[in-house]
Amino acid sequence: MSAFVVAIDGPAAAGKGTLARRLAEEFGFAYLDTGSLYRAVALDLIRSGHRTPSENEAAMAALDLDQDLLFSPDLRREETGNLASVVAAMPAVRAALDHFQRRFAANPPHGAPGAVLDGRDIGTVICPDAPVKLFLTASVEARARRRFLELQTKGEVPDLGRISTEIRERDERDAGRATAPLKPAADAHLLDTSNLAIEEVFAKAKAIIETARQTRA
Ligand code: CDP
Repeated sequence: MSAFVVAIDGPAAAGKGTLARRLAEEFGFAYLDTGSLYRAVALDLIRSGHRTPSENEAAMAALDLDQDLLFSPDLRREETGNLASVVAAMPAVRAALDHFQRRFAANPPHGAPGAVLDGRDIGTVICPDAPVKLFLTASVEARARRRFLELQTKGEVPDLGRISTEIRERDERDAGRATAPLKPAADAHLLDTSNLAIEEVFAKAKAIIETARQTRA
């Protein structure tokens, strides 16, 4: 039987990564944080001095992605996330990263029986046939607070007002772009996490996956 794919999409700091990691662990699935691919492209460009790259420059970086960058602590910086959302609007960059993501979903590493992918277009473009699609949302305030705490624990000195503004800008860019805009797939389960603890989100998602697995068995 083909790998069981869980597609998780949603805006910045909605809690996709935490949920995806927990679900992958629970079901023994492989996990791919697709945002880290776009972030790695951005980091590569920042390091080579291309802070306002052309589509061609960004696509070259995506095609020749240095996998070591995926483990860099600089990947999670706000500057990297902001440029990631700029290059993610470029069709040539998306095309360059498409194959890797689809292959991961179809053949999860280490023979895992399934894969959890999180991003913006997993349920709509990368894995449109995924048996489980989740779309996580939360208010801008809740997401800004989470990102603030996350950066603080990493030793940064974040500014809550600036984070809110950047999240709004990123939402607009991600949802407004022509190629693979951020939007729920028609058959996605919507989960608003503004007032839910991670445990509650996890329990809901787990139940959805268990039901889908039984249906498929
Ligand atoms: O962690 P956070 O939600 O802040 O963002 P991320 O998932 O690390 O992704 C960084 C940026 O990459 C996003 O703002 C999107 O513009 C872009 N992205 C995308 O376009 N498609 C994906 N599948 C994943 C990320």
